[in-house]
Amino acid sequence: MKARFLMMLVIVGALLSLVSGAVVAQDETVTGDLEVFSWWTSGGEAAALDALFAAMNASYPNVNIVNATVAGGGGSAARPVLQTRLAGGDPPDSWQVHPGWELFGQYVEPGYVAPVNDIYESEGWNDVVPEQLREMMSRDGNIYLVLAGVHRGNGFWYNKKVLDEQGITLGEALSVDEFFAIADQLQAADITPLCVGDSGIWATAQLLENTLLGVLGPEGYRGLWDGSVSFNSDEVKAAIAVYGRMLDYQNSDHSALSWDQAVDALMEGRCVFNSMGDWAYGEFVAAGKEDNVDFGWVSHPGSEGSFMVVADGFPMAAGAPNPAAAAGWLKAIGSVEAQEAFNPLKGSICARTDCNRESFGPYHNWAMDSFGSGELVATVVHGTAAPADFQQAMNDAVTLFVVDRDVDALAAALAEAAVSAGFASE
Ligand code: BGC
Repeated sequence: MKARFLMMLVIVGALLSLVSGAVVAQDETVTGDLEVFSWWTSGGEAAALDALFAAMNASYPNVNIVNATVAGGGGSAARPVLQTRLAGGDPPDSWQVHPGWELFGQYVEPGYVAPVNDIYESEGWNDVVPEQLREMMSRDGNIYLVLAGVHRGNGFWYNKKVLDEQGITLGEALSVDEFFAIADQLQAADITPLCVGDSGIWATAQLLENTLLGVLGPEGYRGLWDGSVSFNSDEVKAAIAVYGRMLDYQNSDHSALSWDQAVDALMEGRCVFNSMGDWAYGEFVAAGKEDNVDFGWVSHPGSEGSFMVVADGFPMAAGAPNPAAAAGWLKAIGSVEAQEAFNPLKGSICARTDCNRESFGPYHNWAMDSFGSGELVATVVHGTAAPADFQQAMNDAVTLFVVDRDVDALAAALAEAAVSAGFASE
């Protein structure tokens, strides 16, 4: 079994260098185990992770990769396991991290990761990784992460065949009012409009985050994280009310489904729309679905013109068990070859500007344009915009809201959490 897997890695590695036209340099001197920790376990996620492993294997054939995963979308189950290991002095060599608060609060400040400035210099990445991204991973002149890809969090995916059958065609953008009109039409035809899988509560928190962006706009949304827009304001309450109204259209089994099972439900036509980051795209690819044929996408209602950045990076563990392999891993995943292999499967775009657009299909080209021309905003649900305590308080408050739909109570809970987290004064 293991031999077959290794053989597959070698073949994929060879294909990788053929496709990219480049012969990947090999370093046979690096040996031993490399433990990589992530929460990439869904069909699309696992396939994409294998592409990174294949890239690693192509460059470092004598390193044995240990794939350590803890299932659970968004990493809510993985992060506590990781914290226990880090606190106990038992780090993996590298692990999955989002830039911003998550990186600095959970890993840089406690001293769990080492800067990787030397790798950025030796690989020439300061010229190809966009500055806005480098800033999200840098502090006091040090950079701490290597990104494998950048997800767009504010996607609104749909089952195209079901909409076609109902005579519904979407344009470039979808407003909140247009969504509700379509949702009513679908419901009248006995079709569930919205697919949600919030057995992991972050998935419905993502629906709220996207709705805050769609209703407040990028400037108002940013104001939430610098304290200039209060969670108790009328605009935020209006956004929460829209979120509550959207929940009226969700599948009744939402709390029994994981995020990827909700994407399955969409593919099977059991419901139509899903507000989700473009890791959902990875599920469509893994199921052999075709862009603009089986499924389509727009921005989450009202959020066109913005790109919610959910970037996936890996650090170098301070005291990594195998530092040479960890450095090799970071070099491999940051390479153009690895990113062109990984991102088509994962749904994210390259974290560098020199990937070949032709290696990507219609969705990715659309997302690259959105990144290039859109307002970049930071996700709270995936750790970038606010500290972990706020993220937890938001998940708790959303858990209550899904049941009680009390707009004022959710606004008050978020406002209070923002004050205790220290980024708002009222
Ligand atoms: C990660 C994605 C992942 C998603 C669902 C996000 O936090 O950034 O890479 O696919 O969670 O698990």
